[in-house]
Amino acid sequence: MATKHADILEISRQNALFHNGDRSTVITTKAADTAVRQLMGGSPHLVRSLVQMDAPDHPKYRALTQAWFMPANIKGLEDRIRGIARRAVDKMAATGGVCDFVREVALGYPLHVIMEILGVPEEDEPRMLTLTQELFGAADPELGRKSGQLEQRDMSKMLSEGVIADFYAYFARLSADRRANPKDDVASVIANSQIDGQPISELEAMSYYMIVATAGHDTTSSSTAGAIWGLAQNPGELAKVKADPSLIPGLVDESIRWITPVKTFMRTATEDTQFAGRQLAKGDWMMLCYASGNRDEEVFDDPAAFKVERKPNKHLAFGYGAHVCLGQHLAKMEMRILWEELLPRLDSVELAGEPKQSLATFVNGPKTLPIRFAMH
Ligand code: HEM
Repeated sequence: MATKHADILEISRQNALFHNGDRSTVITTKAADTAVRQLMGGSPHLVRSLVQMDAPDHPKYRALTQAWFMPANIKGLEDRIRGIARRAVDKMAATGGVCDFVREVALGYPLHVIMEILGVPEEDEPRMLTLTQELFGAADPELGRKSGQLEQRDMSKMLSEGVIADFYAYFARLSADRRANPKDDVASVIANSQIDGQPISELEAMSYYMIVATAGHDTTSSSTAGAIWGLAQNPGELAKVKADPSLIPGLVDESIRWITPVKTFMRTATEDTQFAGRQLAKGDWMMLCYASGNRDEEVFDDPAAFKVERKPNKHLAFGYGAHVCLGQHLAKMEMRILWEELLPRLDSVELAGEPKQSLATFVNGPKTLPIRFAMH
């Protein structure tokens, strides 16, 4: 396990020595690993998205959508996203002063933004939300799929009968539509993309849709909820960022660090090597503990505190190196816009009950966050 900030950076930087794709990219059991390999013809992965790839495939597949998610392109989405943010703020105001911030704001806002960019119609958003929660919250009794027969930790069943099959079925239809009628959305880019002159395969296309549709909102929702949690517990920080809106980007980064929605990813050593004083053997499986790295006291002063003025704030919540989060600029932009719209109207906020976090070792965050607030 790499729990120190410096070690996580170093492993993430060395993609040839520490592969993503050789073993599962998330922690799993031996039984589930065996079942997946049987089902997938020896591969340890049920899906093959950017996360499961290494060079030479990874940079080619990443290049397909990279330009879409770069600041120069997403700047053009600012007005549309601001409109969505204003509606989210109005919805919060309409609750009259007490609400579950997760349910009223944090879940719906990033979901709507990414589905618009991807090209999923609004009426299908609740379905996408449920599928994402079932995928990431499989071990949480309140979020996981409640099928009497389905053993949540059995990944092979998730493919054949469960969540992944439902995602595939949905995106296969969307993909066919965008091949016939391309639009100005990410679904059309994926549906019509080619690598080395050949259309990408069904597995890679479906996996691409799935990662954008899931990674694209759950993490941002958790960070958005984390910001209001931090502000509710630290009224002095709320006063600072309200008085000086130039601190909003600092609020955004601090809430992402403080929550760190992606807790871990796995890497596999490609050869025998020494690392941080330990001997690693080829094939050793290593866990990058982002949540721990983001509380490393050698890097962050008073790491458990929530400080909007934290500087520098070189957190690892988006990972690092060749796999660094593709959507990081979008995530930060949509959070910034929400706070630009919400903070001028928010007079006070406090917790109105105990926040609850989802139960998961891979991706998690607040699932209920009761607040009492005053807005104008
Ligand atoms: C990869 C975190 C938002 C799409 C990652 C990784 C992390 C992460 C830790 C792995 C990085 C690594 O292995 O070095 C987050 C957090 C977010 C967020 C904390 C919000 C606060 C988004 C959004 C999208 C997105 C909005 C929308 C498209 C992706 C994709 C990858 C990725 C496609 C795989 C990149 C690759 O392997 O090349 N993210 N993410 N993420 N993220 Fe995000």
